[in-house]
Amino acid sequence: MYGGAFYGIVNANFAPRVNLGLRHQRESLMETRLVTIERHIAEQQQQFPAATGEFSRLLRDLTLALRIIARDVRRAGLTDLLGSTRVVNVHGEEVRKLDELAHDVIFRAMDHGGHLCVMASEEAEGLVHIPANYRRGKYVMVFDPLDGSSNIDANITIGTIFSIYRRLDETLDTPGTIEDILQPGYRQVCAGYAVYGSSTQLVYTTGLGVDVFTFDPTIGEFLLSHPQVRIPSRGSIYSVNEGGYALWGERLQQYITYLKTPSLDGKRPYSLRYVGTAVADVHRTLFYGGIFMYPANRTAPHGKLRLIYEVNPLAKIITEAGGRASDGYRDVLQITPVDIHQRTPVFMGSAEDVAELEQFLRGEHSFQQCAHAESA
Ligand code: AHG
Ligand code: MN
Ligand code: MN
Repeated sequence: MYGGAFYGIVNANFAPRVNLGLRHQRESLMETRLVTIERHIAEQQQQFPAATGEFSRLLRDLTLALRIIARDVRRAGLTDLLGSTRVVNVHGEEVRKLDELAHDVIFRAMDHGGHLCVMASEEAEGLVHIPANYRRGKYVMVFDPLDGSSNIDANITIGTIFSIYRRLDETLDTPGTIEDILQPGYRQVCAGYAVYGSSTQLVYTTGLGVDVFTFDPTIGEFLLSHPQVRIPSRGSIYSVNEGGYALWGERLQQYITYLKTPSLDGKRPYSLRYVGTAVADVHRTLFYGGIFMYPANRTAPHGKLRLIYEVNPLAKIITEAGGRASDGYRDVLQITPVDIHQRTPVFMGSAEDVAELEQFLRGEHSFQQCAHAESA
């Protein structure tokens, strides 16, 4: 009875559903509610008395795009959607067919709703404008249509990342500008991602905590499955492309050595997990805790991940869930971007793990003093 059939039913208290007696099971089901994402968004909007419903309609359009992308991802191997377009994008990376398709689907779902004044996409060199024949609204959307594209052909988890800002001057109905896009991450009014894994899940926040919805393909709905997710304050997993080790700074190398060194209390060594899809690695970090890193290195002094399309939305989710996101020295959400495709190093996850990493980067951790003493 507690199998997959009930995953969309949310217990008000989010009580564990294991080891319950039959009577208790029945009682706890009586307290549960089936909540679609549309219903959830509408209920959340009621908490903002001035809300006009425009934002809810914007999110409804976006979830349509995500449902279409999820469908295409699920059937990609059957429909000639795998492989490369043989085009190289603005980041110097090969564009996969699904990258292009996902970008187009999001554009076609969002361009005519009247809610947005401009968009920016990881797959487009400049701003993505709203066609002149459609009304322009007060919001701005930025997105990474498909994250983890190098994993597509091997059927490994990929995702879509998005965030929404208000335009700087909401009284205007002119096209949005680059300044509307170049806003620091703390100004996001909504951030989220869809992850196309063993199931499709949509994770989003509007600043009222983080809620996770699981897609039920039989009814075509995202159902609230994990309300108000909190990231553990400390984890035991680190996630980084350790192939770059020799190119990192010494203090980061010391941190990784520390995580791999057994401790008397048994809390170390940490385990290593790395999918190579930021969405998937951050999603696991949200649920299990630990730290996800994409650091700078000698050949990539700003790291790889893009501040606007990848880092800020993921950072907003992790921060809203009680974790932290840092470029090693400061909260990434405080950075004011100067370029739409700007990259930044990033370390995000459990608050205590990120704080400890920062301590290492400042050279202030006791482990580093010991390492010095030993090498002296
Ligand atoms: P995208 O597919 O949108 O270009 O992003 C790929 C990114 C990110 O998802 C992942 O964390 C990272 O690339 C992996 O890079 P490495 O192969 O250098 O580890
Ligand atoms: Mn990406
Ligand atoms: Mn991408």
